[in-house]
Amino acid sequence: MRQPSTFKHVVLAACTAFALGVTAPVLADGDYAQYRDVFEPLPALPPIPADNSMTSEKIELGKMLFFEPRISGSGVISCATCHNPALGWSDRIPRAVGHDGQVGERNTPTVLNSGFFGAQFWDGREDDLEGQALGPIEADIEMAMPLEDAIARLEEFNEYQDKFAAAYPEYDGDSVINADHVAQALATFQRTLNTPNSPLDRWLAGDEGAMTPQQKRGMALFADNGCVACHRGPALTDSQFHRIQVPGSEDEGRFLVTGEERDRFAFKTPTLRNVALTYPYFNNGATETLAEAIQVMGQEMLGQDFSDEEIADLEAFMHALTGEMPRFEVPALP
Ligand code: HEC
Ligand code: HEC
Repeated sequence: MRQPSTFKHVVLAACTAFALGVTAPVLADGDYAQYRDVFEPLPALPPIPADNSMTSEKIELGKMLFFEPRISGSGVISCATCHNPALGWSDRIPRAVGHDGQVGERNTPTVLNSGFFGAQFWDGREDDLEGQALGPIEADIEMAMPLEDAIARLEEFNEYQDKFAAAYPEYDGDSVINADHVAQALATFQRTLNTPNSPLDRWLAGDEGAMTPQQKRGMALFADNGCVACHRGPALTDSQFHRIQVPGSEDEGRFLVTGEERDRFAFKTPTLRNVALTYPYFNNGATETLAEAIQVMGQEMLGQDFSDEEIADLEAFMHALTGEMPRFEVPALP
């Protein structure tokens, strides 16, 4: 039988359960219905900017550039070295290793669903994927190649001449292989890397059996305890910056971009889509397991110590955020 339940009712039940040392309210299937308003399904595509239309030619070109190691100083590092499709489009090491084996300061975020982020990088120093794309090619500790050299390298290949011409048929400027076009093509390809149809999405669409009872309990805890305040929207990020000092980090985060005191140690809320695949966690990769990451979040963001059972439920819910990986073939390069 379905009990009349409101959001408040569940919050109250959760508090009582907490006080009694019980994990989470035991709810029948239908009683979770109210949480359908708390979450947003992940659409198949993110918003496409008006000045960078999505065409199959641009996607194809962007994919080649993403896997192209010859636009790096060493000739062996591509975007896919660190954003590796086999590793959740990330690298599974605490901090990225780039040119000459140098270890960077930060953990490599996944590029899956990155078209949904309202800010790019842990410190949000770029707004969109077009702005983001050229940084890693030039960064000394990433691909370490001056942009002019990368463009010159690409110009040596007839196949790239053809692919850029096909992707930008209306362009009548000097050279169709230029920095703007490289950035646009990389951004366009990355906007295809989305992971819809996770158990949460299927449950939101009405498939009651898509999530296990434990995942539903975790979902209720996630909503009732306020994780959704920051991890919200289709990609479960508000794309905002929040102050936190995760274990072992001296990185000043957003402060390095704005110079504003309130941004010292503030970092962008990362997406939780596919978070079960993208360990280790946090801006410095200090935390290996989801359970630890959830515990840190409870303590640092909510001033709350979760019980082992609650952490297990929340972790189960995190696994319900793993979607269908994009179908694509590794491109053949010239
Ligand atoms: C050496 C490893 C490495 C390489 C190579 C690399 N990245 Fe990254 N990428 C990172 C790291 C580390 C960050 C986070 C840096 C920061 O926040 O300051 C990042 C951040 C990003 C982000 C932002 C995601 C988010 O959640 O904010 C995108 C998008 C991205 N990279 C795409 C690319 C593209 C496109 C290329 C190739 C042109 C590339 N990366 C090459 C390691 C790498
Ligand atoms: C006040 C905003 C806020 C709240 C509330 C919040 N988070 Fe976070 N979350 C963040 C930020 C910011 C980070 C990145 C911190 C860093 O690396 O410096 C993060 C990181 C994470 C990570 C690691 C993801 C990764 O890829 O590194 C997980 C998992 C996570 N949060 C889960 C949760 C859970 C579960 C809750 C509720 C118990 C929660 N968060 C509450 C803002 C928040």
